[in-house]
Amino acid sequence: MKLPSQFYRPLAIGAPAPLREPPVKVERMIHFVPPHLEKLRAKVPELVKQVDVVLGNLEDAIPTDAKQAARAGFIEMARATDFGSTGLWTRMNALNSPWALDDMIDIVGAVGDKLDVVMLPKVEGPWDIAYLDQLLAQLEARHGVKKPILIHAILETAEGVKNVDAIASASPRMHGISLGPADLAASRAMKTTRVGGGHPDYKVIADAEPGQGLRAAYQQDLWHYTIAKMVDACASASVKAFYGPFGDFSDAPACEAQFRNAFLLGCAGAWSLHPSQIAIAKKVFSPDPQEVAFAKRVLEAMPDGAGAVMIDGRMQDDATWKQCKVVVDLAKQVAAKDADFARIYGF
Ligand code: GLV
Ligand code: MG
Repeated sequence: MKLPSQFYRPLAIGAPAPLREPPVKVERMIHFVPPHLEKLRAKVPELVKQVDVVLGNLEDAIPTDAKQAARAGFIEMARATDFGSTGLWTRMNALNSPWALDDMIDIVGAVGDKLDVVMLPKVEGPWDIAYLDQLLAQLEARHGVKKPILIHAILETAEGVKNVDAIASASPRMHGISLGPADLAASRAMKTTRVGGGHPDYKVIADAEPGQGLRAAYQQDLWHYTIAKMVDACASASVKAFYGPFGDFSDAPACEAQFRNAFLLGCAGAWSLHPSQIAIAKKVFSPDPQEVAFAKRVLEAMPDGAGAVMIDGRMQDDATWKQCKVVVDLAKQVAAKDADFARIYGF
């Protein structure tokens, strides 16, 4: 474990100083773009107005023979677009792949000053973060990049889940962690072929009653344990937790339910892989207007956050004040970014 003074020291001479506090940004959806496809690249200027983060994907789902075109396409799209307050991320190839090194060398060299976050797949432990941390510092120094590029890990191996606390706190460059349910299912030998979401066979059934026919069954959430473990690791390291992909684009209600479970458990956002998922993520990860209205009443009733009051028959005290502050603070951030929500929340 490094001492705090070492922890915050740049890892290369001339690299920008690591951030002491993570930037406060609304990141309700991380929208994936396959940058080797010119038709989809052409839509990026429009996309920038609709999403919180645009991510150029270089890893899985990009065919092997298109890896270089994706990297070049990402650089072209980063150069050609004014992202304003919308985040620009890339998902690089895994560190054990033949493309990872050139992904970083080419992209930081060409557009390092525009790149906010690198998403690192298949992270197994803090050693993966340490490698990328050092490499980014060297490349930032070489190319005179002014602000540190942050790292976002995907939690998608059993070993990664085992080491999630150490991953979340591995570097001041850590932005957050996303659940990768597809790779994680394979890594753990879970018996689901779905990308995220529930499974009808993962359930509990009601006790048998004499003479009773059908027994009630209740589907459970396959991802609850991992998301909760990830949220605790992230919150204690002051980084953000995200749900990842939901693969069934035809099932909007199931996508919304999975996103909402993640939101309620503490996640800040999710990936959108299809345009239809942008609106779902926006709705789910912006706090519910009625919850915001109630939370505002609690904060107003307890200006110093201490003591106890009754509101609508419900007891409020120092702890519920903190819960309400989480909701109101997030609503204020969303309102500052999104005029529609500013109106809805009345800020
Ligand atoms: C995402 O990368 C996943 O494997 O689910
Ligand atoms: Mg994956």
